[in-house]
Amino acid sequence: MATFSVILPVLLSLLPLPSGAAPRNTLLLGSSLSVDKGQADVLRSRDGTFTCGLYSIYTNAFTFSIWYTNSANKTVVWTANRDRPVHARGAAVTLQKGGALVLMDYDGAAVWQAQGDDSVGVQYAQLLDTGNLVMKNSSGIVVWQSFDSPTDTLLPTQRITATTKLVSTTGLHVPGHHIFHFTDSSILSLIYDDANFHEIYWPDPDNGEYQNNRNRYNSTRFGGLDEMGNFFSSDFANQQALVASDQGLGIKRRLTLDPDGNLRLYSLDSSDGRWSVSWTAMSQPCNIHGLCGPNGICRYLPAPTCSCPPGYVMSNPGNWSQGCTVEKAQPVMFLRLPGTDFWGSDQQHVDQMSKTPMKLFPDVHKANQGEVKWLYFYGFAGAIFVLEVFFIASAWCFVLRWELGASEMQAVEEGYKVMASNFRRYSYKELVKVTRKFKDELGRGGSGIVYKGILDDDADEEVHKVLRELVGTLAQMLDGEQ
Ligand SMILES: *[C@@H]1O[C@H](CO)[C@@H](O)[C@H](O)[C@H]1NC(C)=O
Ligand SMILES: *[C@@H]1O[C@H](CO)[C@@H](O)[C@H](O)[C@H]1NC(C)=O
Ligand SMILES: *[C@@H]1O[C@H](CO)[C@@H](O)[C@H](O)[C@H]1NC(C)=O
Ligand SMILES: *[C@@H]1O[C@H](CO)[C@@H](O)[C@H](O)[C@H]1NC(C)=O
Repeated sequence: MATFSVILPVLLSLLPLPSGAAPRNTLLLGSSLSVDKGQADVLRSRDGTFTCGLYSIYTNAFTFSIWYTNSANKTVVWTANRDRPVHARGAAVTLQKGGALVLMDYDGAAVWQAQGDDSVGVQYAQLLDTGNLVMKNSSGIVVWQSFDSPTDTLLPTQRITATTKLVSTTGLHVPGHHIFHFTDSSILSLIYDDANFHEIYWPDPDNGEYQNNRNRYNSTRFGGLDEMGNFFSSDFANQQALVASDQGLGIKRRLTLDPDGNLRLYSLDSSDGRWSVSWTAMSQPCNIHGLCGPNGICRYLPAPTCSCPPGYVMSNPGNWSQGCTVEKAQPVMFLRLPGTDFWGSDQQHVDQMSKTPMKLFPDVHKANQGEVKWLYFYGFAGAIFVLEVFFIASAWCFVLRWELGASEMQAVEEGYKVMASNFRRYSYKELVKVTRKFKDELGRGGSGIVYKGILDDDADEEVHKVLRELVGTLAQMLDGEQ
């Protein structure tokens, strides 16, 4: 009998919680969460997806955060105090009697606090299944929510508005320089912002809103991620959403502005807790401003990799954010850096052409190579494009003339004559000749291959002749019809 009474209390003390008691999802007025009370002193959403409490960023430093319970690295989706972590011992989050949620450090200093508009009536704080931490009054009305002050992550059903923004978190767990928000012209954008620069890098700053599929005339400033994996925003043209590659219900997701400044949509693999990327804002990460710091060069090897120009060294080894500085005082000289674009220094911009039989991507960044044959090449591909339009237009004309009166027809004809007189057409044989049987491939795009071609003056003359004949024939055909 004596042994039995000794063993029982020992067994009980080995179990941290009475069986069946999962962490609560509600923090009542006057109660608190602390590190001292152990790992289990947290709030957990009813379905278990999210956990809220003091999160260890270093051995003795904690932040008040919300994280995905079953993700491999306990991925944080919200933090109250990124700028100011608290000490392990003695720090606590308390829902005070007055209705304020307060994070206090070990010395009693209030590091952060949240208060609803109607704080007097606050009864409890609750972590919802959506990952939203809310404070409710006795009528069950939400008077404060974490969804209104996002950090670097947007969760499904959470909204981004005129007054909210995402700010990246650096490797040191402090706010970085990349921001995701609505600009003054109501365009949802990614911005690099530090003491010296304030630059938009998404949507593509070289394009107009129209080309970027944006509409600056909707000042609603309202966007968000839905549970299917669609990301919508009031400025997206035709209200067309950006779509996750694994679009569908039942997948846990997050849209995060990562430390590298790229915005990525992630999906959780519930079997192993790993995240996979299902959408990315910047497909060319070297275009993210600040990636390699001042004077740093970013190149694809194929992963984006930073390096310093000759004569320069990394300012702060291990951290590219400070870029490169001159190695030692040396005589000034100019070096050629082939194929390198100096960010923000473009003198002109040539629009990308589309719908050509041979796809061409005139890259102004490469124009400084200064070789005249490139100009010929651009002219040549431009001509193909315009001629295609010309042929479609003339086919359309033949259809139209059954429907239009003579004066309307004349106007249409004037239009394409002007178009035709300025450009030339090339036969397949000529293309074979100028590209030397498609010998030099310059690159591949989503819908075609770009070859290099060189024209000689004879070919030019011949091509002009072919074109003149063609226009003549068309004009005769039209006259005959009349
Ligand atoms: C996340 O966890 C994986 C293993 O599950 C590990 O390889 C990786 O380094 C971790 N990442 C970070 C940022 O801690
Ligand atoms: C709860 O908050 C709502 C909105 O602020 C308010 O209308 C309502 O009266 C409050 N209820 C109580 C019991 O304070
Ligand atoms: C790199 O340096 C910058 C500027 O000093 C600092 O803000 C940032 O936190 C550092 N990042 C890392 C990963 O050390
Ligand atoms: C502006 O955006 C809102 C929110 O997406 C949408 O409901 C509204 O129809 C848009 N207005 C126009 C004129 O497109």
